[in-house]
Amino acid sequence: MAIIYDAASKTLSLHTQNTTYQMQIGDMGHLFHLYFGRRVDAASLAYRIIPSDRGFSPNPFEARYHRELSLDTLPQEYAGANSGDFRVPALDLIGDNGAVGTDLRYLRHEIRAGKYALSGLPAAFADAGEAETLSITLSDAATGLEVELLYGVFEDADMLTRAAIIRNNGASAVTLNRVGSLCLDIPFGKWALLHLHGRHCMERNAERVPLMRGIQTVSSRRGASSHHHNPFVALVEPTATETRGECVGILPLYSGNHRTDVEVDQTSSVRVVSGINPDTFSWYLKPGDSFVSPEVALCWTDGGLGDMSLRLHRFIRRHIIRSPWKDRRRPVLINSWEAMLFDFDIDRLMAFAKQAAALGVEMLVLDDGWFGARNSDLEGLGDWTPNPAKLPGGLKHLSDAVHGLGMKFGLWIEPEMVNELSALYAAHPDWALTVPGRNPAFGRNQLVLDMGRREVVEHLFKVFSALLREDGIDYIKWDMNRNMTDVYSRALPPERQREASHRYMLGVYDLLDRLTRAFPEVLFEGCAGGGGRFDAGMLYYTPQIWCSDDTDAIERVAIQLGTSVAYPVSAMGAHVSVCPNQQTGRNVPFGVRGIVAMSGTFGYELDPAQLTEAERAQIRTQIDRFHRWYDVIQFGDCHRLTDVDAPGDYAAWEYVSQDGSRALLNLVTLHTRANCPGAHVRLRGLDPGAMYEIDEICYEGCVNASMDSPLGGALGGRVLSGASLMYAGFTLPPLMGDYPGAQVSFTRVDAGGTR
Ligand code: GLA
Repeated sequence: MAIIYDAASKTLSLHTQNTTYQMQIGDMGHLFHLYFGRRVDAASLAYRIIPSDRGFSPNPFEARYHRELSLDTLPQEYAGANSGDFRVPALDLIGDNGAVGTDLRYLRHEIRAGKYALSGLPAAFADAGEAETLSITLSDAATGLEVELLYGVFEDADMLTRAAIIRNNGASAVTLNRVGSLCLDIPFGKWALLHLHGRHCMERNAERVPLMRGIQTVSSRRGASSHHHNPFVALVEPTATETRGECVGILPLYSGNHRTDVEVDQTSSVRVVSGINPDTFSWYLKPGDSFVSPEVALCWTDGGLGDMSLRLHRFIRRHIIRSPWKDRRRPVLINSWEAMLFDFDIDRLMAFAKQAAALGVEMLVLDDGWFGARNSDLEGLGDWTPNPAKLPGGLKHLSDAVHGLGMKFGLWIEPEMVNELSALYAAHPDWALTVPGRNPAFGRNQLVLDMGRREVVEHLFKVFSALLREDGIDYIKWDMNRNMTDVYSRALPPERQREASHRYMLGVYDLLDRLTRAFPEVLFEGCAGGGGRFDAGMLYYTPQIWCSDDTDAIERVAIQLGTSVAYPVSAMGAHVSVCPNQQTGRNVPFGVRGIVAMSGTFGYELDPAQLTEAERAQIRTQIDRFHRWYDVIQFGDCHRLTDVDAPGDYAAWEYVSQDGSRALLNLVTLHTRANCPGAHVRLRGLDPGAMYEIDEICYEGCVNASMDSPLGGALGGRVLSGASLMYAGFTLPPLMGDYPGAQVSFTRVDAGGTR
């Protein structure tokens, strides 16, 4: 049993293999949080919490003569507002009579086999026997609200999930102003906040900051989880490394406006509240109605950032991504965007596809520009019929021809948007988000459709399901190229206008849900101007997401390693593009571009006809290598071997197959230095007692004359123990040149040297 109720102490414990999460129902019905950390099988850990009288921390009515009992100082499981706890609330609302807040008390709980689901929202799932659910219902006497707290316990995966459902069982409506998915009080310890910040073309930089007293916030109000602040956060010990230190990882499954507040209070206790961003949200909840919060996944480890990431990667791959493609080999693709932008026709596309097919590329992805009057980003969005000048025979004609080359065919779409210059906007101007009487702000010359409207989603489902049914499409790149402004829905009454951003997300999820269920064989890749909506909510529907519009391999090292703090490599869209790079103007060796792109879903974003013969040969080599190491990279464990939030002169990372029999070390030099020692790393995840042969060393972009033979020869073919490689480490010779790199593969051998 992963979930245990101890009636004597009134505690509820959630046990995973290595962790325990414990709550207690207090004498007055408050739900207190007791512990989250390494597994402890004690019935009650309440002895840790010593109530003490603190001035200006009020006492619940029943305990009004016991000044040490205060909701303001005791750790809460799901804090209300305006009833004695001055810290960030999980639930805040205003009743019909204008009264603010709630006083939540325990009503009942239930332990169920299996994992709960959330209506209309992405949520982790489990096979029979893999998870249990705890439901705890609290109630607020003044409003008649019931709050159901849901906990999913994934014992083997060492992960928990949380969500809350608010039901209005009262006689009058309430307006919910904040509904946390998670409230987590951590009364002891020293913590830092690790978060993933960024901008367009430089997403998910890992930053660790000390917690200050007061409140630190990670949030988005952009209508998408955003390039700027990924919803994932972690509380980590300030000195935590990749391999040591406590970490609490918090992974929201939500793609819209999110906010995580981390508050350090007067007693140095830390509270985390994470959920929909209350700055842009409220929900009018009528009697009989309920509201479901998005889900948050949660883990604890004392094995450092690396162990936290591994748990998250495995969990996302197994319990969040639901596409059948999660376990399949994804095709190596070539995307038309950086090579052709809007400038193509069927002949150019077919010549492009033929060249690529000859190099071993397995799928052509036709990006933006194939539809309506779309010859620039000024017009056409919304008109999803092929442009007859570019594709006279339509999409089916093209996909047939591409299939004829033995390739798959993929297509770019941007369903949630409309250009002012489009037939769709002319027919339905009210489908766009605009404020009455105000000219809307434009972003990339486009407006955002009101995805909260049923008829908009219906229309898009009709259009795209016809396309997927009729046009031989194997893959969809689902883009979203601007953030939301002028959020006002013509379909909602005034008291519901602050629901529009969340209703938008529910509409997007609904469309994704219906299309991915109707066409399970189609591989969907998410995108929002690169990684502007790279989150676990989207991964539920799209097993991969274009990581960034920045294809510069050196920038990508930071982006992809930052992304790997929470998300698996199989989720990261990554391509080799031309140099000088279109975003930075930088030159990076072709082979190093390959190392970085194959640490993702792998593909190309260039015109093979413009490459030299040597580069074309390198593509063949890269694809061959990728195929040979595919299982290790995509289905193995990823270990960062250098610090993700403190980059040095080189970055190194490693993939190890689940059975520990194969490993691939990747290294990219970020700053070449004169007279420097070679890169030294300690491998991880190997079997210490086993022997490993260094079976391939591929130096890329090195100008050291002797690189290939003497050095490669000296290391290559050696047999070393897992213990040597992990504890004594592995050293590469100094690599010279502009951004040189290396890939080294290791295979376990038995005593006789057999693999
Ligand atoms: C976004 C995407 C790019 C490309 C363009 C097309 O920026 O991230 O990869 O698809 O749109 O307009």
